Amino acid sequence: MQTTTAVDLGNPDLYTTLDRHTRWREFATEDAMVWSEPGSSPTGFWSVFSHRACAAVLGPSAPFTSEYGMMIGFDREHPDTSGGQMMVVSEQDQHRRLRKLVGPLLSRAAAKKLAERVRTEVRGVLDKVLDGEVCDVAAAIGPRIPAAVVCEILGVPAEDEDMLIDLTNHAFGGEDELFDGMTPRQAHTEILVYFDELIAARRERPGDDLVSTLLTDDELSIDDVVLNCDNVLIGGNETTRHAITGAVHAFATVPGLLARVRDGDEDVDTVVDEVLRWTSPAMHVLRVTTGEVTINGQDLAPGTPVVAWLPAANRDPAVFDDPDTFRPGRKPNRHIAFGHGMHHCLGSALARIELAVVVRELAERVSRVELEKEPAWLRAIVVQGYRELPVRFTGR
Ligand code: HEM
Repeated sequence: MQTTTAVDLGNPDLYTTLDRHTRWREFATEDAMVWSEPGSSPTGFWSVFSHRACAAVLGPSAPFTSEYGMMIGFDREHPDTSGGQMMVVSEQDQHRRLRKLVGPLLSRAAAKKLAERVRTEVRGVLDKVLDGEVCDVAAAIGPRIPAAVVCEILGVPAEDEDMLIDLTNHAFGGEDELFDGMTPRQAHTEILVYFDELIAARRERPGDDLVSTLLTDDELSIDDVVLNCDNVLIGGNETTRHAITGAVHAFATVPGLLARVRDGDEDVDTVVDEVLRWTSPAMHVLRVTTGEVTINGQDLAPGTPVVAWLPAANRDPAVFDDPDTFRPGRKPNRHIAFGHGMHHCLGSALARIELAVVVRELAERVSRVELEKEPAWLRAIVVQGYRELPVRFTGR
């Protein structure tokens, strides 16, 4: 089905309530191809929602590129300035080069080595929040763990971590009034300035961190190094924190889940995949056509922006039974929360380890999680995220 919406699907106001899932469900069920008029995006954009159509747009052989940008707002006429330099918005040689360089630092083996650091971080965070007081998981737990891990990968000194967490929240947390006082763009600039300093320090004293690794490749400019540090910082922080918050949300709302995980009645890796599907923190990815292509019966000219809505695909009733329900043992679980194709998330092993440690530690140390009130959602389109999740933990 092809249609034009009366609403601009790039308007973040549409995503602050659970009505978003109703809209996505309708579009996914109809396998809709929806046109949004110019507004949030200067030239307008097409959207796809079904699991099949999202996978087709993102698939390795699809005639699409990320080089103009991968978020609503960018298209051929208004390209992302980091296109062709930053991994997520580069293709071909530059993309291959960057994945080869950065991949080993985020591989499954590297992630396993980081598991102990993750455990220490999770235990430290839980020590602070298991005091019987109301805890806003979205602020106190979600952001801390991925930020500490990404800082470790980047080689950011511990004393700078808190500052970087705040800046990342401002830069990528959504257009939310919580982040008043500094525009997202200003926060982003501050991060890039910080990386300049870090790069200078690593040039003097190289280590085994991401910054030092990127510096070993003479073909990469300093700009490339800065932008790719930024890619990992943002990619690693902003999505994972909402998945972690969502794991606590699941424990608060799925009866008996804590005990079942603790008693070994649920496979933790399977639970983690269901957290990823159910939370689907990366809300959309955009591609621009590189040639003429027909999607869902719609002929698209070169240079047309198309958006894949990942949470819609991850609750597509054609692929997932009872898709709104969190089913800890769901198998198979062919979610595309990490995207699909050439740009499939490079940090997926790390994100999975972080979530597995959080799930295990919570089950070990907590006997009950009670929702104080329903979660509030971010006013954002890049991430589907928790603005607030107040809960009360009962320790064991
Ligand atoms: C790419 C989601 C965690 C680093 C992506 C993409 C998605 C995604 C959907 C593809 C974007 C596209 O196709 O344009 C997620 C989710 C995460 C997560 C849902 C957590 C729950 C992480 C972590 C890191 C990371 C922990 C690093 C520490 C990256 C990088 C890319 C990427 C570097 C670019 C890959 C490429 O372009 O080849 N992620 N991510 N992500 N992610 Fe993640």
